[in-house]
Amino acid sequence: MSRIVYVNGEYVPEEDAMISVFDRGFLFADGVYEVSAVINRKLVDNDAHMARLARSMNELKMTPPGTAEEIEAIQLKLIEENDLNEGVIYLQVTRGAADRDFAFPIDATPSLVMFTQAKSITSNAVAEKGISVITVPDIRWKRRDIKTVGLLPASMAKQASVEAGAGDAWFVEDGIVNEGSSNNAFIVTHEGKIVTRHLGTEILHGITRKAVMALAAQENLEVEERAFTPEEAYEAREAFSTSASAFVMPVVKIDDHVLGNGVPGPVAEKLRALYIEMATNG
Ligand code: PDD
Repeated sequence: MSRIVYVNGEYVPEEDAMISVFDRGFLFADGVYEVSAVINRKLVDNDAHMARLARSMNELKMTPPGTAEEIEAIQLKLIEENDLNEGVIYLQVTRGAADRDFAFPIDATPSLVMFTQAKSITSNAVAEKGISVITVPDIRWKRRDIKTVGLLPASMAKQASVEAGAGDAWFVEDGIVNEGSSNNAFIVTHEGKIVTRHLGTEILHGITRKAVMALAAQENLEVEERAFTPEEAYEAREAFSTSASAFVMPVVKIDDHVLGNGVPGPVAEKLRALYIEMATNG
């Protein structure tokens, strides 16, 4: 069934959606994006996604295509048009179309594209078993705090995990685990401490990461934001990743090292359940 997608002011069937070959998103990956979850037809933590979008655009001196309220109104209309009960909304802003030139065009109009993807997030057989991850060198650019569409290194990392028979890849740089290919990475130590890499330009400041850390604090679970090595992760009691598209995903194996009994750990399961409850009930 064809979806209705949004392209620069129009709601059109997906096969009629068009963008210029001169669009700088296409030519230079000169674009930023957000992925917001939809549960029971409602956007999850969308204000935080809008705030991060504004920050990404600002860091790249990109003209916003509209206010956060205007963008959210389009998201809500797409949920309705596509009868989306559960899944994600992808939105992308690019600097727009202009004759090819490395310098930013002076008068380009930003492009805004949005589409929905139906997906079962809250009930997910993969999350029940947990995934294995491989570690790969982090070959991305140095401003990973900006959510750009320049995702080839992430795509290559994910493909490497597929070829290795794993579910995802974790980026390692200077001996420390930065984050997953499209999620933030966490371990739980034998002392029961939840550890995730501290914020910086090296990782995306995940919206789900922040919400899950707040839920952990409410449960009186200790969270440490600090560097951890793959070796520390191999010895961890549990591990998991967080993202808007998978919420809390238990990790049961890292490279050749099975964690615990090879099943999702209690901390990951608890945080997954709490996050789902929050996303479902607001
Ligand atoms: N990815 N780190 C990276 C590199 C990401 O691409 C993402 C999200 C995250 C998690 O951020 P959040 O919790 O705000 O979704 C961390 C989205 C889901 C994607 O690219 O599809």
